[in-house]
Amino acid sequence: MRVVSGIQPTGNLHLGNYLGAIRNWVRMQDEMEQGSECLFFLADLHAISQPHDPKELASATLEMTAALVACGIDPSRSILFNQAQVPAHAELQWLLNGTARMGWLGRMTQWKDKAGKNREGQSVALFTYPVLQAADVLLYQATHVPVGEDQKQHLELARDIAQKFNNDFCEPDAPVFTLPDPIVPPDAARIMSLRDGSAKMSKSDPSEMSRINLSDDADEIMRKIKKAKTDPEALPSEAKGLDGRPEAQNLVGIYAAVSGESVDAVLARFGGQGFGAFKPALGELLVEALAPISERFRELKQDREALDAILARGAARARERGIPTLNAAYRALGLVRGAS
Ligand code: TYM
Repeated sequence: MRVVSGIQPTGNLHLGNYLGAIRNWVRMQDEMEQGSECLFFLADLHAISQPHDPKELASATLEMTAALVACGIDPSRSILFNQAQVPAHAELQWLLNGTARMGWLGRMTQWKDKAGKNREGQSVALFTYPVLQAADVLLYQATHVPVGEDQKQHLELARDIAQKFNNDFCEPDAPVFTLPDPIVPPDAARIMSLRDGSAKMSKSDPSEMSRINLSDDADEIMRKIKKAKTDPEALPSEAKGLDGRPEAQNLVGIYAAVSGESVDAVLARFGGQGFGAFKPALGELLVEALAPISERFRELKQDREALDAILARGAARARERGIPTLNAAYRALGLVRGAS
């Protein structure tokens, strides 16, 4: 079993990232058996696909490293690194560009959402980003990729690219790439914005009030939850009563995901009550769950040297793991890779 996943280091780690992905990374790391391995990375190469500030990228990468360690990623058990220190990601992307089809990329919903009506004005990197994402996992023969719902389509694309490459360039009994399986949590796969129940919670939302960051203090968390958009109805006593009430569904879903209960169990307790009672309970639950993480995060992010050392060691281990597959991909294409 080889678990691989990544996160963009732009902006803060938020509750959607945590419940949709990072919590699963930690669980998978903690349940790893002998001979299995986890690789987790900061997708800093992805960050240049959209306007960014070069002065901030390196420190954002270190901060996100601190956030992941604060959430429970243990760099002595998992390989934790940033893409830019492992050139094989970019190299493999180029090789896979020969296999990926324009039509496949054009169908990616994230491309459509991010480009909007201005496709001509977007960077080529934003369009080909999913090919780099495919390289990220195929390079390591990933079997399991824990992600939130929004990344599932990119993982399906990675499987299509791997399949076509294996078909076109490999003997049937000697495929170069393993087809990775996306692992999406049954609950909390899609945490929505606190301001709009139809938009996902996102680092790129201009409103800070739309998301809970893992670095928020208790007052900020309480304020954001109390101001979260809701409707005037009382809570129903069963999950199906939340249909057509996206904001209520999101808040109850967050409560259930954090407390580890089912939505029905939460509603059995809060059904019939209004948000005036539910919101403070949710706020307190979040403060209690996130306080140890934000405290560790604040400590860890001060120690830049330790974070640099974690990434350097992780990158060295990742480079070692990736090279055999990269060489095999060159060979399959009739290329001989130079020494690096
Ligand atoms: P990114 O940085 O947007 O998000 C990191 C992880 O958090 C999940 N996530 C969410 N889950 C539930 N609800 C939400 N509102 C929410 N927002 C984010 C994402 O699904 C993701 O798992 N392209 C990726 C990073 C990446 C990657 C990869 C992931 C690059 N290469 C290879 C897996 C494998 C991204 O931008 O995620």
